[in-house]
Amino acid sequence: MLELCVIFGGQSPEHEISRKSVTSVLNNLNKDKYNISTIGITKNGAWYLYTGDYAKIESGEWEQDTENKKKAILSPDAEDKAIIVFDGDKVMKIHPDVIFPVLHGEFGEDGTIQGLFELSGIPYVGMGVMASANGMDKTSSKIVFASADIPQADWVVVNKTDNFEDKMDEIENKLGYPCFVKPARTGSSVGVGKAHDRKELKAALENAAQFDRKILVEENIDGHEVECAVLGNEDVKAATVGEIMPTVEFYDFDAKYNDNSTELKIPADLPKETIEQIREYAVRAFKALDGSGLSRVDFFVKHSDGSVVLNEINTLPGFTNISMYPKLWGAVGIEYSELLDKLIELAEKRVK
Ligand SMILES: Nc1ncnc2c1ncn2[C@@H]1O[C@H](COP(=O)(O)OP(=O)(O)O)[C@@H](O)[C@H]1O
Ligand SMILES: [Mg+2]
Repeated sequence: MLELCVIFGGQSPEHEISRKSVTSVLNNLNKDKYNISTIGITKNGAWYLYTGDYAKIESGEWEQDTENKKKAILSPDAEDKAIIVFDGDKVMKIHPDVIFPVLHGEFGEDGTIQGLFELSGIPYVGMGVMASANGMDKTSSKIVFASADIPQADWVVVNKTDNFEDKMDEIENKLGYPCFVKPARTGSSVGVGKAHDRKELKAALENAAQFDRKILVEENIDGHEVECAVLGNEDVKAATVGEIMPTVEFYDFDAKYNDNSTELKIPADLPKETIEQIREYAVRAFKALDGSGLSRVDFFVKHSDGSVVLNEINTLPGFTNISMYPKLWGAVGIEYSELLDKLIELAEKRVK
């Protein structure tokens, strides 16, 4: 049996999404292979070992299940390689072989917790510190992908403390309207806005500034929205490509999680060459970032000329069994449980 520690929750606005993702992960992990301990991190950043029913995780009820939760921390002591659990006066230790962080967004996907995993000396699923940090920061990943010659939307970076009037002049000259305004380091469309004129641009910048001091503004790309799943360490494989078809103006938080009208089309109905181009760019983007484990790489296919433009990379993509990432692997014959096995294996094999 492999000792597996699964971590969920976290302090990001995607806390609830993590609870959904982890519920699928826990229900699908092969219980003959893994001895699982689960760590829940609250929105305030408190860590607990949770030993209760998995059914209480998605709703958040686990936090009230006081009989089944105990304060716990991951030790940075690389000789110990332990989760330390506080049970009244007693201290208990768990020694995981692998950690599986099912965390999205800030402090989960951005290299911070990965730094703690590195210190602990325990192998973990997904990307390392720098790849996670660069993948999370939309302005840094732009630079990495540009250096790998992957086409992207034109962009302008705005700092919260910049003079917005000057920056808006620059944006109007370089990008025009509509344009997209995004906090550099959020996910799930949190703080993302589409501006059709200067007034909307100002409002979108002010809104984005509440989430991050760095803001990315991009030209609008009118196209199909498609996603590709990538898996591997040195030997990186891309699954097929899926299309998301939001019924609203763009794929915002509600369209992602609250409204069921968005359809996924797997595989995307695109020319074979386009699918191959997307898969190649997805692998190239992953390698440019020095990726390991997994990623979902998102693109646009322009309506005007069918060309492919990279939008962003997600280093810990949504992982419910109806999420795009596992579905793309399912479409090429790798079922959800097997996908989890592969990710855990990749964590063990990752070359430091
Ligand atoms: N440059 C763009 N042109 C057109 N639509 C965009 C552009 N950037 C983002 N969008 C829309 O906004 C959504 C969220 O933006 P994205 O960059 O994917 O942020 P997040 O990390 O929050 O998912 C996308 O799924 C897409 O629908
Ligand atoms: Mg996105």
